[in-house]
Amino acid sequence: MEILNIKTASKDYSVVVGKNLIQRDNFEESKNREVFLTVDENIPENLKQKVIRILEEEASKFSMLEIKATEENKSYSSLEVIHDSLINAGYSRNCILYALGGGIICDMTGFAAATYQRGVDFVLIPSTLLSQVDASVGGKTAINHKIGKNMIGAFHQPTKVISDVNFLMTLEPKEIRGGLAEIVKHAIILDKKFFDWLEHNIEGLLACDEGLYEYAVSKSIKLKESVVSRDETEKGIRKWLNFGHTFGHAIEIYGQYKQFSHGEAVALGMMMAINLSIKTSGLDIKSATRIKELVKNILNEELIEKQFNPEELYKMMSSDKKKIGEVLNFITVKDIGHAEIIKDIDSETILKSITL
Ligand SMILES: NC(=O)c1ccc[n+]([C@@H]2O[C@H](COP(=O)([O-])OP(=O)(O)OC[C@H]3O[C@@H](n4cnc5c(N)ncnc54)[C@H](O)[C@@H]3O)[C@@H](O)[C@H]2O)c1
Repeated sequence: MEILNIKTASKDYSVVVGKNLIQRDNFEESKNREVFLTVDENIPENLKQKVIRILEEEASKFSMLEIKATEENKSYSSLEVIHDSLINAGYSRNCILYALGGGIICDMTGFAAATYQRGVDFVLIPSTLLSQVDASVGGKTAINHKIGKNMIGAFHQPTKVISDVNFLMTLEPKEIRGGLAEIVKHAIILDKKFFDWLEHNIEGLLACDEGLYEYAVSKSIKLKESVVSRDETEKGIRKWLNFGHTFGHAIEIYGQYKQFSHGEAVALGMMMAINLSIKTSGLDIKSATRIKELVKNILNEELIEKQFNPEELYKMMSSDKKKIGEVLNFITVKDIGHAEIIKDIDSETILKSITL
């Protein structure tokens, strides 16, 4: 078990990473508090019951809501159900919300906590790889609006994060690959040594080796945190974390949000961002090939063969909300572990990068 102490401008909190963390000692924040738990329907029953039992025993008042984790349910109406439950049961400003689930449940519970009585405490128990290495780090909370994902949200830091790798053992392979895409991204933009480690251990990670995940999750959180702590509200270097995402968001739209998962779109987007990095940031061919080989490991054969119409994909990039004014922002790498932000790239260079 490792305890990471996270310091941000607005709050300090701890992230506990390891195996078998669902134990009373890790739930001291719930002691004699009014506790509300939002839980994903797909959490394995034994682990879910363990969390409920501890919270019921520790809390002065306890209630819970089970939600089906879909983007449609990450909505105003679910938020209203959470707020109504809190208000009807008379929860005070001193209450604490717990989220047990993937990024959908974590984002929504975080936003419910940010907005209930102008902000109450919340604890995240992320249960997917993506939510452990990405959604639970950095304090972004949100719900979707009908015109776009995460359009309504707030920055609100949790009181604690409990990242137990036991939860990862029941995930579908595509969920594992989606989380791995973000882990690999952190290495590509920030840490060459971690990139080397991932190259050596990618097979074990794809086979869900718990021990490897303890290291990979904690390393990845530290890397994301090192960026977030220097730029909590994404004014500068936090943009590096969007590596592969400008292409990736366009790929999600291209596939009408059905053909590619977010993780697959980001992985494909990273391949294109590497092509761009060769042209704009002087990334050498040997490093580019190493990066693409590692990324290919987390994509299935069918996706590697995929061809995109560059003009069409380029058009879809302009609907990316990370665009500033009319200028498209791209994150590239000069070398493995060294990212930069590039603006004003001519369309010809971008179009030529749209290949795998
Ligand atoms: N706040 C942030 O900084 C941030 C960062 C990245 C992504 N996100 C958000 O996170 C969401 C995606 O997160 P996600 O990939 O975790 O998706 P998710 O929450 O939809 O979970 C994926 C699937 O796994 C299931 N699941 C969850 N835990 C499980 C377990 N232990 N065993 C078996 N199945 C389980 C869920 O029911 C769901 O079907 C998106 O809404 C995205 O916008 C937020």
